Amino acid sequence: MSNGYYDWLVKVIVLGDSGVGKTNILTQYCDQKFSQNYMATIGVDFKIKTITVEDKKIKLQIWDTAGQERFRNITQTYYKGAFGIIFVYSIVDRNSFNNVETWIKSITENTTDEVCSILVGNKMDSQDRRVQSSEGQALATKYKMPFIETSALENKNIQNIFDILGLNLKKRL
Ligand code: GTP
Ligand code: MG
Repeated sequence: MSNGYYDWLVKVIVLGDSGVGKTNILTQYCDQKFSQNYMATIGVDFKIKTITVEDKKIKLQIWDTAGQERFRNITQTYYKGAFGIIFVYSIVDRNSFNNVETWIKSITENTTDEVCSILVGNKMDSQDRRVQSSEGQALATKYKMPFIETSALENKNIQNIFDILGLNLKKRL
């Protein structure tokens, strides 16, 4: 059934500081592509991917937001109607981890309690780790969301982000 049929259309939004790898996570997942060159996302961008969870087809409309502060006003206008949220930080960027709570607070005002979130610690391929897995896990537990470490570079656990999110989405749809 690759004829465009789907059971549900779900808006997913990807949030986190600039440079943590949001865009590359998405290009790796949707297009099997990774770019070493940093190209800042301007405002927002989106990708479509239909996944199958158990017997249901969920069409994900995934919004990739700009982490840069100067785009904050634009990106916030896209929060409305999001049913899935992927919070991303980089394990080599302590600041991006410290800012996750700010990202969480920025969106909970704009979404329902039903929203499905996941916390992602990206760049697990890097040697100079600054944030331990246990810290990521503790933060995720605090906000009652699943946690996963990934590498967009090595395509590690990228698929898992969407498998976990998909399962949780299906439970609530
Ligand atoms: P904004 O669009 O500014 O919000 O940034 P972003 O979060 O979309 O980051 P982006 O995907 O553009 O990646 C930023 C930089 O990190 C790029 O140079 C990527 O090549 C690099 N990068 C992304 N993911 C990984 C990863 O898993 N490992 C490593 N080592 N580098 C990564
Ligand atoms: Mg980007």
